[in-house]
Amino acid sequence: MKPILISMVAAAGLMVAGSVLAVDMPAEGQSKCAVCHAIDKKVVGPAWNEVAAKYKGDKDAASKIAANITKGGAFGWKLGIMPAKGMGASDAEIKSLSQFIAGLAAPAKAKAAAPAKGEAKKEKTK
Ligand code: HEC
Repeated sequence: MKPILISMVAAAGLMVAGSVLAVDMPAEGQSKCAVCHAIDKKVVGPAWNEVAAKYKGDKDAASKIAANITKGGAFGWKLGIMPAKGMGASDAEIKSLSQFIAGLAAPAKAKAAAPAKGEAKKEKTK
C-alpha cells in the first residue's frame, strides 16, 4: 500500500511540474513517443504543435487524434507510417496524450485564462 501511495504522490508532483512548464512532453510521451516526436519540431513524425494546429477548432480533436494513434498508419503528413500505439502506449496513455496534443492548439495564455472567463461572464450578468 505504502509504495503505491508514494508513487501516486510522485506522479502528482510530476503533473504539477508539467503544467507549470506547459509545453513539456508528459512522461508517457517521453517513453512511448519521443523517439519519433517532439512538441515543437518534426522528428520522424510531425511536431505535436503542428498536429494541434491541424485539429484546431475541432471539438472532437482529442478523440480523433486518439483513434489515429491507436490504429497507426499514415495521416497525410507524408512522413511515413506510424506504428499503432507508438512504442506500446496503453489506451489510458493514448487518451491522456491525445488530450495533451489537442490542448497544444490553445495558446498557454488562453488556457490559463479559461476558468477566469466563466467568472468574468458571471460578473457581467450581475
Ligand atoms: C516509430 C516512430 C513513431 C512513434 C514511436 C510514434 N509516432 Fe506518431 N507518427 C509517426 C509518423 C511517421 C507520423 C506521420 C504519419 C504520416 O506521414 O501521415 C506520426 C503521426 C502522429 C500524429 C498525427 C496524427 C494525425 O491525425 O495527423 C500523432 C497525433 C502522433 N503521431 C502521436 C504519437 C503518439 C502519442 C505516440 C506515442 C504513443 C507516437 N505518435 C509514436 C511516427 C511515430
